[in-house]
Amino acid sequence: MEITLVKTTTPKPKPDPAKLGFGRFFTDHMFVWDYNPEQGWHDPRIVPYGPLELDPASAVLHYGQAVFEGMKAYRGPQGEVLLFRPEQNMARLNRSNARMSIPQFDEEFALRAIKELVALEREWIPTAPGTALYIRPFIIATDNVLGVRPSATYRFMVILSPVGAYYEEGLNPVSIYVEPHYVRAVRGGTGFAKAAGNYAGSLLAQKNAVAKGHSQVLWLDGIERKYVEEVGAMNVFFSIGGQMVTPDLGDSILPGVTRDSILQLLRSWNVPTVERRLSVEEIFQAHAEGTLVEAFGCGTAAVVSPIGRLEYQGRLIEIGGGKIGELTQKLYDTLTGIQTGRLPDPFGWVVRVDV
Ligand code: PLP
Ligand code: COI
Repeated sequence: MEITLVKTTTPKPKPDPAKLGFGRFFTDHMFVWDYNPEQGWHDPRIVPYGPLELDPASAVLHYGQAVFEGMKAYRGPQGEVLLFRPEQNMARLNRSNARMSIPQFDEEFALRAIKELVALEREWIPTAPGTALYIRPFIIATDNVLGVRPSATYRFMVILSPVGAYYEEGLNPVSIYVEPHYVRAVRGGTGFAKAAGNYAGSLLAQKNAVAKGHSQVLWLDGIERKYVEEVGAMNVFFSIGGQMVTPDLGDSILPGVTRDSILQLLRSWNVPTVERRLSVEEIFQAHAEGTLVEAFGCGTAAVVSPIGRLEYQGRLIEIGGGKIGELTQKLYDTLTGIQTGRLPDPFGWVVRVDV
């Protein structure tokens, strides 16, 4: 399939690299790919970035049939353009599609389109430490019918945003509220998919946590509300009694690429590491016994984000004395080193884009 290109005639000025924030600026072009049952995925094109015209009855606007991904492109030391395990994002997007009754797409082709778009926009990739070009593929349902049923037509798009740190705190430890009531996902639900509605449903708890002076919520399982699942929109690790512990995956946890990469790094360093159920009581108990040493969230956007405080039902604990943990820092340095081509890539994670 040929990807057609229409170039912008009005390129935008690049933002100040010191003031990027996260997801506030967008590049000059975007990728668009349409689906209908007769033609399948068809008419792939790179066109100038701009608003969409959607019928007000579009299915995505009513029932939220939408999925997305998040990945990053980096500049290497010689100016090369690098992606990090992008095939994992394509595979996860198709798993999200399956859960949301959206048709499967050709992962290799989509990755080729992303590479072409990133190559075209290479001048937008920021180079300062901690910055990257965030890649946001997403798919929306476009049928103009108000019945609740899977849409017959879809649009796959990719937009790009030069980004800095996801959290204002950067690598400083953040304060987390353990959410006792609201849940992000349940067994049998859509938590393992990157479905738009999961994020809409998380906003109220997030807002309440911020009003209480915290940055994020720690989500507990949806059935017993005892077991830790994720922190905000990130996976979570705790260093307890000399072991790194992260919740084992089920259908209520998003299987993060960063989580998987951290598991592989820890195991390669011979750090005892387990994926298992972990209750919030066990975390507070470990703190009382002095065996809770580090905790962090992890995801593409922030890479790692140290947890400095946890509040649960009126009890407040501090972790790591207000500083990023030793292992957390080493994971951040190693991951970002590999991602930006500054450290060797023993796992073959980095994919170079021809420019
Ligand atoms: N958990 C949730 C709910 C997410 O949205 C994300 C972000 O993609 C992650 C975890 C981390 O996943 P990844 O490391 O693939 O970015
Ligand atoms: C992550 O990359 O960790 C995210 O959760 C992305 C977020 C903007 C949805």
